[in-house]
Amino acid sequence: MEKHIDSAVEQFRTLLTEQIARQQRMEKESGATDFSKLSKIVIGICGGDGIGPIISSQAERLLRFILKDEVASGKVELRTIEGLTIENRVAKNKAIPDDVLAEIKACNVLLKGPTTTLKGGTLESANVAMRRELDLYANVRPVCIPEENIDWTFFRENTEGEYVLGSRGVEIPDTLAFDFKVTTNAGTERIARSAFEYAKANGKKKVAIVTKANIMKKTDGKFSEICHRIAKEYEGIEAEEWYIDIMTANLVNERIRSDFEVFLLPNLYGDIITDEAAQIQGGVGTAGSANIGDKYAMFEAIHGSAPRMIEAGLGDYANPTSLFKAAEMLLRHIGFIDKANLLGKAIAICTEEEKRIVVTGYTDGATCKEFSDYLMETIEKL
Ligand code: IPM
Ligand code: MG
Repeated sequence: MEKHIDSAVEQFRTLLTEQIARQQRMEKESGATDFSKLSKIVIGICGGDGIGPIISSQAERLLRFILKDEVASGKVELRTIEGLTIENRVAKNKAIPDDVLAEIKACNVLLKGPTTTLKGGTLESANVAMRRELDLYANVRPVCIPEENIDWTFFRENTEGEYVLGSRGVEIPDTLAFDFKVTTNAGTERIARSAFEYAKANGKKKVAIVTKANIMKKTDGKFSEICHRIAKEYEGIEAEEWYIDIMTANLVNERIRSDFEVFLLPNLYGDIITDEAAQIQGGVGTAGSANIGDKYAMFEAIHGSAPRMIEAGLGDYANPTSLFKAAEMLLRHIGFIDKANLLGKAIAICTEEEKRIVVTGYTDGATCKEFSDYLMETIEKL
């Protein structure tokens, strides 16, 4: 037992040293990329696993269609990146194989299909690894239900909390297991600023800071305290304090839910509550997700790779809307605001207003390709 304890203590020392170094690196960071200054923007496209290659090939078609002039002039390059598959990752025993990571880092932004995350074992999630390697600290997830006057934007911290050390816990066989949750000052300050800057730029009056600071006193306590401190820099925007349990209830409380505007949360709570929010909007197939850092950004569907759809032979019926919404966020992020608005409008027509072709995920609905054709025809008419 003493040996186990010594090795656990040693591991904790390593983690602590690494995380202190990360906090110090963050303190020195230099600010966001100005895409208007780049002579060329490279958009990488990763297929992923399960339904990923099916929906991302349609998303690539859509981007080629919307960006045809920019691709023709060389202002934008769309680059397919192979090898971010569970088979390749298991074979190389790497969350993101080195050659794939190098290709990813040669792009400015990425559109990524869902990747399989294995339960247990030591192979880290490709998502978590990518968020860490590219330092994609803000996970921004909008959920909109116009007929209910719901316009929510979630700012989920994306590089720390329960996730960053999630594959590096300690275990004493047949006795116990420990995981580590980490919250840093610099990590919290940057996500808080992202949320409040967004609120300011979009005329939002309230930001809901959501934690479990009554229980996770150190980590969530720090998160809450720093968010409130940053809030003081933003006059006219109210910072509300909520606990995650009651907030999950609030989202299904039709009397009050439309009062919320911007949410600011640590990683795991943000993960859970954004699936709930997406389900309220119409399903996890309907929500896009942006992972934003200062240098890189990655855009993806909020949902997973849906292996059950593939096993049931329903892959072609997968709903690409979530990834298309991610593509809309990508266009907005790189400065193509009109094109993003056009795509957003077409998605709203196809999925809410006109609904001439509907994807259900089953054979009674349209295929992913049929829906994509419909969307592109709609764009052409706008
Ligand atoms: C998400 C996903 C990921 C997460 C998984 C795939 C690792 O659920 O983007 O919300 O937990 O962050
Ligand atoms: Mg999730």
